[in-house]
Amino acid sequence: MNENYPRAYKKGSQNFYGRDFLVNSSVLIPRPETELAIDMVLNLVGKPYLPGVRPSKAKLPQDLTILDVGTGSGCIGITLSLELPMSKIVATDVSSEAIKVAKKNAEKLGAKIKFLQSDLLKEINITPDLIIANLPYVDKDWDWLNLESLSHEPESALFANNKGLELIYRLIDQATDKRIQHLILEADPCQHELIIQYAKKKGLSLAETRGFILYFSE
Ligand SMILES: C[S@@+](CC[C@H](N)C(=O)[O-])C[C@H]1O[C@@H](n2cnc3c(N)ncnc32)[C@H](O)[C@@H]1O
Repeated sequence: MNENYPRAYKKGSQNFYGRDFLVNSSVLIPRPETELAIDMVLNLVGKPYLPGVRPSKAKLPQDLTILDVGTGSGCIGITLSLELPMSKIVATDVSSEAIKVAKKNAEKLGAKIKFLQSDLLKEINITPDLIIANLPYVDKDWDWLNLESLSHEPESALFANNKGLELIYRLIDQATDKRIQHLILEADPCQHELIIQYAKKKGLSLAETRGFILYFSE
Protein backbone atom coordinates (compact mmCIF):
# COMPACT_ATOMS: atom_id res chain seq x y z
CA MET A 1 0.00 0.00 0.00
CA ASN A 2 1.69 3.23 -1.09
CA GLU A 3 1.11 6.72 0.28
CA ASN A 4 -1.33 7.48 -2.57
CA TYR A 5 -3.60 4.61 -1.60
CA PRO A 6 -6.98 6.32 -0.97
CA ARG A 7 -7.86 6.99 2.66
CA ALA A 8 -11.43 5.79 2.03
CA TYR A 9 -10.18 2.34 0.99
CA LYS A 10 -7.87 2.17 4.02
CA LYS A 11 -10.78 3.15 6.28
CA GLY A 12 -13.30 1.02 4.34
CA SER A 13 -15.91 3.77 4.15
CA GLN A 14 -16.73 7.16 2.68
CA ASN A 15 -19.31 9.71 3.71
CA PHE A 16 -21.90 10.64 1.09
CA TYR A 17 -24.82 12.96 1.78
CA GLY A 18 -24.34 12.51 5.54
CA ARG A 19 -24.16 8.72 5.58
CA ASP A 20 -21.21 6.34 5.68
CA PHE A 21 -20.96 3.97 2.73
CA LEU A 22 -18.74 0.87 2.78
CA VAL A 23 -16.21 0.98 -0.03
CA ASN A 24 -13.53 -1.34 -1.34
CA SER A 25 -11.35 -1.32 -4.42
CA SER A 26 -14.13 -2.75 -6.60
CA VAL A 27 -16.16 0.48 -6.36
CA LEU A 28 -15.57 4.15 -7.06
CA ILE A 29 -15.15 6.26 -3.94
CA PRO A 30 -18.27 8.51 -3.86
CA ARG A 31 -17.40 12.11 -4.75
CA PRO A 32 -18.84 15.37 -3.36
CA GLU A 33 -19.79 16.59 -6.88
CA THR A 34 -22.23 13.67 -7.13
CA GLU A 35 -24.12 14.93 -4.05
CA LEU A 36 -25.53 17.72 -6.23
CA ALA A 37 -27.46 15.07 -8.18
CA ILE A 38 -29.31 14.25 -4.95
CA ASP A 39 -30.06 17.95 -4.32
CA MET A 40 -31.37 18.15 -7.86
CA VAL A 41 -33.82 15.26 -7.43
CA LEU A 42 -35.02 16.56 -4.04
CA ASN A 43 -35.56 20.00 -5.56
CA LEU A 44 -37.52 18.45 -8.45
CA VAL A 45 -39.94 16.81 -6.04
CA GLY A 46 -40.17 19.98 -3.92
CA LYS A 47 -38.38 18.54 -0.87
CA PRO A 48 -36.16 20.84 1.23
CA TYR A 49 -32.52 19.80 0.79
CA LEU A 50 -30.40 22.52 2.36
CA PRO A 51 -31.10 24.51 5.53
CA GLY A 52 -32.35 27.94 4.51
CA VAL A 53 -32.89 27.04 0.83
CA ARG A 54 -36.49 26.81 -0.21
CA PRO A 55 -37.03 24.14 -2.89
CA SER A 56 -38.73 25.07 -6.17
CA LYS A 57 -42.38 24.19 -6.70
CA ALA A 58 -42.49 20.40 -7.23
CA LYS A 59 -42.20 19.38 -10.88
CA LEU A 60 -42.42 15.67 -10.08
CA PRO A 61 -44.23 13.64 -7.38
CA GLN A 62 -42.31 11.96 -4.52
CA ASP A 63 -43.52 8.46 -5.38
CA LEU A 64 -41.25 8.14 -8.39
CA THR A 65 -39.76 4.98 -9.83
CA ILE A 66 -36.08 5.80 -10.17
CA LEU A 67 -33.40 3.76 -11.92
CA ASP A 68 -29.81 4.34 -10.75
CA VAL A 69 -27.54 3.11 -13.56
CA GLY A 70 -23.93 2.29 -12.61
CA THR A 71 -24.68 2.29 -8.90
CA GLY A 72 -21.15 1.36 -7.69
CA SER A 73 -21.25 1.59 -3.88
CA GLY A 74 -24.98 2.31 -4.19
CA CYS A 75 -24.52 5.86 -2.91
CA ILE A 76 -27.02 7.52 -5.29
CA GLY A 77 -29.81 4.94 -5.24
CA ILE A 78 -29.58 4.28 -1.50
CA THR A 79 -29.52 7.98 -0.63
CA LEU A 80 -32.58 8.64 -2.82
CA SER A 81 -34.40 5.69 -1.29
CA LEU A 82 -33.76 7.04 2.23
CA GLU A 83 -34.52 10.67 1.37
CA LEU A 84 -37.65 9.78 -0.62
CA PRO A 85 -39.29 6.86 1.22
CA MET A 86 -42.29 6.94 -1.13
CA SER A 87 -40.08 6.27 -4.16
CA LYS A 88 -39.26 2.90 -5.68
CA ILE A 89 -35.57 2.49 -6.51
CA VAL A 90 -33.93 0.01 -8.83
CA ALA A 91 -30.12 0.11 -8.95
CA THR A 92 -27.94 -1.55 -11.57
CA ASP A 93 -24.31 -2.10 -12.38
CA VAL A 94 -22.45 -4.16 -14.93
CA SER A 95 -20.06 -5.27 -12.16
CA SER A 96 -21.21 -8.08 -9.88
CA GLU A 97 -18.55 -7.05 -7.33
CA ALA A 98 -19.99 -3.52 -7.18
CA ILE A 99 -23.48 -4.92 -6.67
CA LYS A 100 -22.21 -6.96 -3.70
CA VAL A 101 -20.91 -3.76 -2.07
CA ALA A 102 -24.09 -1.83 -2.88
CA LYS A 103 -26.24 -4.59 -1.38
CA LYS A 104 -24.20 -4.49 1.84
CA ASN A 105 -24.68 -0.73 2.01
CA ALA A 106 -28.43 -1.01 1.44
CA GLU A 107 -28.66 -3.53 4.27
CA LYS A 108 -26.45 -1.49 6.62
CA LEU A 109 -28.39 1.72 5.96
CA GLY A 110 -31.84 0.12 5.88
CA ALA A 111 -32.74 0.95 2.28
CA LYS A 112 -35.15 -1.24 0.34
CA ILE A 113 -33.83 -1.39 -3.20
CA LYS A 114 -33.94 -3.84 -6.04
CA PHE A 115 -30.49 -4.56 -7.55
CA LEU A 116 -29.90 -5.90 -11.05
CA GLN A 117 -26.71 -6.70 -12.91
CA SER A 118 -27.00 -5.17 -16.35
CA ASP A 119 -25.02 -3.53 -19.13
CA LEU A 120 -26.81 -0.15 -19.09
CA LEU A 121 -30.51 -0.86 -19.82
CA LYS A 122 -30.01 -4.23 -21.53
CA GLU A 123 -31.64 -6.34 -18.76
CA ILE A 124 -34.10 -3.67 -17.62
CA ASN A 125 -37.73 -4.34 -18.37
CA ILE A 126 -39.32 -1.56 -16.33
CA THR A 127 -39.93 1.99 -17.55
CA PRO A 128 -38.81 4.26 -14.71
CA ASP A 129 -40.00 7.86 -14.34
CA LEU A 130 -36.42 9.00 -13.94
CA ILE A 131 -32.99 7.59 -14.76
CA ILE A 132 -30.01 8.88 -12.83
CA ALA A 133 -26.50 7.83 -13.82
CA ASN A 134 -22.97 8.62 -12.85
CA LEU A 135 -21.28 6.50 -15.51
CA PRO A 136 -17.56 6.40 -16.30
CA TYR A 137 -16.72 9.59 -18.24
CA VAL A 138 -13.01 10.20 -17.76
CA ASP A 139 -11.04 10.52 -21.02
CA LYS A 140 -7.54 9.07 -20.61
CA ASP A 141 -6.25 11.75 -23.02
CA TRP A 142 -7.14 14.73 -20.80
CA ASP A 143 -3.80 16.42 -20.25
CA TRP A 144 -4.77 17.68 -16.77
CA LEU A 145 -5.43 14.18 -15.56
CA ASN A 146 -3.44 12.86 -12.60
CA LEU A 147 -3.60 9.16 -13.51
CA GLU A 148 -1.63 8.18 -10.41
CA SER A 149 -4.34 9.63 -8.14
CA LEU A 150 -6.96 7.45 -9.90
CA SER A 151 -4.85 4.32 -10.18
CA HIS A 152 -6.41 2.49 -7.22
CA GLU A 153 -10.03 2.79 -8.33
CA PRO A 154 -11.49 0.37 -10.90
CA GLU A 155 -10.71 1.44 -14.48
CA SER A 156 -14.18 0.23 -15.47
CA ALA A 157 -15.71 2.79 -13.07
CA LEU A 158 -13.69 5.72 -14.40
CA PHE A 159 -12.78 5.64 -18.07
CA ALA A 160 -14.79 5.62 -21.27
CA ASN A 161 -13.85 5.80 -24.96
CA ASN A 162 -14.91 8.45 -27.45
CA LYS A 163 -13.72 11.47 -25.41
CA GLY A 164 -15.15 9.80 -22.30
CA LEU A 165 -18.66 9.92 -23.75
CA GLU A 166 -19.26 6.43 -25.11
CA LEU A 167 -21.39 5.12 -22.24
CA ILE A 168 -23.26 8.38 -21.75
CA TYR A 169 -24.21 8.45 -25.44
CA ARG A 170 -25.28 4.80 -25.34
CA LEU A 171 -27.44 5.47 -22.31
CA ILE A 172 -29.06 8.48 -24.00
CA ASP A 173 -29.82 6.26 -27.03
CA GLN A 174 -31.36 3.52 -24.88
CA ALA A 175 -33.27 5.90 -22.60
CA THR A 176 -34.81 7.78 -25.52
CA ASP A 177 -35.74 4.48 -27.24
CA LYS A 178 -37.63 3.62 -24.04
CA ARG A 179 -39.21 7.13 -23.96
CA ILE A 180 -37.79 7.88 -20.50
CA GLN A 181 -38.93 11.42 -19.72
CA HIS A 182 -36.38 12.48 -17.11
CA LEU A 183 -32.66 11.80 -17.24
CA ILE A 184 -29.98 13.04 -14.82
CA LEU A 185 -26.33 12.54 -15.78
CA GLU A 186 -22.97 13.40 -14.31
CA ALA A 187 -20.09 14.44 -16.57
CA ASP A 188 -17.15 16.77 -16.50
CA PRO A 189 -18.30 20.33 -17.34
CA CYS A 190 -15.93 20.31 -20.37
CA GLN A 191 -18.15 17.55 -21.84
CA HIS A 192 -21.51 19.21 -21.17
CA GLU A 193 -21.91 21.01 -24.49
CA LEU A 194 -21.33 17.83 -26.52
CA ILE A 195 -23.79 15.89 -24.34
CA ILE A 196 -26.42 18.64 -24.61
CA GLN A 197 -26.13 18.62 -28.42
CA TYR A 198 -26.32 14.82 -28.57
CA ALA A 199 -29.35 14.67 -26.26
CA LYS A 200 -31.07 17.42 -28.25
CA LYS A 201 -30.82 15.35 -31.44
CA LYS A 202 -32.54 12.54 -29.52
CA GLY A 203 -35.39 14.81 -28.39
CA LEU A 204 -34.22 15.63 -24.86
CA SER A 205 -33.94 19.24 -23.69
CA LEU A 206 -31.59 20.48 -21.04
CA ALA A 207 -33.66 21.61 -18.06
CA GLU A 208 -30.96 22.41 -15.48
CA THR A 209 -27.27 22.03 -14.65
CA ARG A 210 -25.64 22.03 -11.21
CA GLY A 211 -21.85 21.67 -11.22
CA PHE A 212 -21.12 18.33 -12.91
CA ILE A 213 -24.81 17.38 -13.06
CA LEU A 214 -27.12 17.71 -16.09
CA TYR A 215 -30.88 17.26 -16.02
CA PHE A 216 -32.72 16.53 -19.26
CA SER A 217 -36.41 16.15 -19.79
CA GLU A 218 -38.50 15.28 -22.82
C1 LIG B 1 -18.29 6.59 -11.97
S1 LIG B 1 -18.77 5.05 -11.20
C2 LIG B 1 -20.14 5.67 -10.24
C3 LIG B 1 -20.49 4.85 -9.04
C4 LIG B 1 -21.57 5.50 -8.15
N1 LIG B 1 -22.82 5.66 -8.88
C5 LIG B 1 -21.10 6.84 -7.65
O1 LIG B 1 -21.68 7.86 -8.07
O2 LIG B 1 -20.17 6.89 -6.83
C6 LIG B 1 -19.49 4.23 -12.57
C7 LIG B 1 -20.14 2.89 -12.32
O3 LIG B 1 -20.71 2.46 -13.55
C8 LIG B 1 -20.48 1.07 -13.71
N2 LIG B 1 -20.53 0.75 -15.13
C9 LIG B 1 -19.52 0.82 -16.05
N3 LIG B 1 -19.97 0.43 -17.26
C10 LIG B 1 -21.27 0.11 -17.11
C11 LIG B 1 -22.29 -0.39 -18.00
N4 LIG B 1 -22.03 -0.61 -19.28
N5 LIG B 1 -23.51 -0.62 -17.49
C12 LIG B 1 -23.78 -0.40 -16.17
N6 LIG B 1 -22.87 0.04 -15.28
C13 LIG B 1 -21.63 0.31 -15.75
C14 LIG B 1 -19.14 0.82 -13.05
O4 LIG B 1 -18.99 -0.54 -12.70
C15 LIG B 1 -19.19 1.79 -11.87
O5 LIG B 1 -19.70 1.15 -10.73
